[in-house]
Amino acid sequence: MKVALIGLGTTGKIVAEFLFQKQVLSLVLCRKNSSAAAGKDLGEVLHRPYMAVPVETTDNLEEKLTKYKPDILIDFSSPAFLREHLTTLARCNVNVVTAVTGYTQMDIRRVKVLARKRKIGVVLAPNITRGVNVTLLMAQIAAILQPDYDFQVIDENHRNKKDSPSGTAEKIAAAIMKGLGTPHGDERQVPIYSIRAGDITGRHRVMACGPYDQIEITHTAFSRKAYAEGAYQAAGFILAKTGLYEMKDVYGFSNYSGERTCEVAESTPAHVYA
Ligand SMILES: NC(=O)c1ccc[n+]([C@@H]2O[C@H](COP(=O)([O-])OP(=O)(O)OC[C@H]3O[C@@H](n4cnc5c(N)ncnc54)[C@H](OP(=O)(O)O)[C@@H]3O)[C@@H](O)[C@H]2O)c1
Repeated sequence: MKVALIGLGTTGKIVAEFLFQKQVLSLVLCRKNSSAAAGKDLGEVLHRPYMAVPVETTDNLEEKLTKYKPDILIDFSSPAFLREHLTTLARCNVNVVTAVTGYTQMDIRRVKVLARKRKIGVVLAPNITRGVNVTLLMAQIAAILQPDYDFQVIDENHRNKKDSPSGTAEKIAAAIMKGLGTPHGDERQVPIYSIRAGDITGRHRVMACGPYDQIEITHTAFSRKAYAEGAYQAAGFILAKTGLYEMKDVYGFSNYSGERTCEVAESTPAHVYA
């Protein structure tokens, strides 16, 4: 598997190191005109010895993809990149794992249509770690079992994080709403509180409060390497696939959502959860 990476920011640099160690990284792309990394070897950018991984701008992207022939592009940049370049990636048969957050519903619909029409594989991964995906399931199950509780999501991230609330917080709110049986698109009914401070790597908490007690589900990321590992697994998953997928598909959690968890909730005796 040959991987190209776009985005060499706070997270992208960690992902680049991880992919290099896995010996799959063949190209790093950066924004045209604005990056001091363009034209250098990745080793120089990361203050490491020579890595033999070129950092190129996204100018003439098609030429560069044809030259380096990556199978997968991993995206840790911003929504603007895929908006501008998805059709080029499709033309070059490069599948995509995008960890970027902040896509609009219209962006997502466009990716879905293009993935089907142009037969490329895309993993949309606003929540890329396995731990967050387990948290999503736990939040949904809590909502199924305690629908009368007041659910809140608290989203804590580093001070430079651009989107607020985070994509993960929105996903958790959506999972809770699904568990509560509220129609899609009503996520705002679960309040999300965002804190942006210092270098918090990422912490998401679900609080469910009843009249006599409180349930808390917390996911704390210790290291941005968790994002890199998730992206690497997603790349392996999407290598020979077409269509649009989420991380629950990558981790094999698809069968645990929706109706199936409802059945478990209804048929499992209460003492099992006590
Ligand atoms: N899914 C997850 O679990 C997860 C985890 C961590 C991060 N993320 C997401 O990943 C993205 C990056 O996060 P970060 O914290 O690393 O942000 P960051 O530090 O701001 O880095 C963003 C990087 O992307 C580049 N970039 C931005 N727009 C671009 C464009 N149109 N074309 C090419 N390059 C572009 C920037 O280049 P310049 O230096 O030239 O501006 C910078 O190198 C965010 O959307 C974040 O929410 C997701």
